[in-house]
Amino acid sequence: MSKDLFDAAFAAMQKAHAPYSRFPVGAAVRTSDGRVYSGCNIEVISYPEGWCAETTTLSHFVMGGGGTITDIVVVAEKKAKCTPCGGCRQRLAEFAGPDTRLHLCDNDGIVETLTMRDIFPYGFEAEVLGKGNPA
Ligand code: THU
Repeated sequence: MSKDLFDAAFAAMQKAHAPYSRFPVGAAVRTSDGRVYSGCNIEVISYPEGWCAETTTLSHFVMGGGGTITDIVVVAEKKAKCTPCGGCRQRLAEFAGPDTRLHLCDNDGIVETLTMRDIFPYGFEAEVLGKGNPA
């Protein structure tokens, strides 16, 4: 079912700009209305200025209209079952729910499926800052 999403993430990984870490990563998300967005990590010679594949993916998702994310795929050719970093978990949680599926991969496809609840319990959710806060 998520082979197309793996293929999108794997193709994105081929575009990674990772000359410093030499650790290419690809990610892809599917929305509740069936759109697919993908992205790669992009590094910068000033190292802290680079960013992750999940962040590129979310940029495409937002520019494509946003919505709700139902499935996430992450693939890294040098590490099976590469999981999103802490910052990306928070970013993904902005648009994903606790039941959103996270598919971990090796170079041949999905090898394990978790949920956002599994990887990001007790995330930062401040109601006082909530969406639509009139203040
Ligand atoms: N990286 C990602 O793209 N996603 C993650 O969730 C983990 C780390 C990238 C950032 C950097 O370009 C490289 O992997 C090595 O840390």
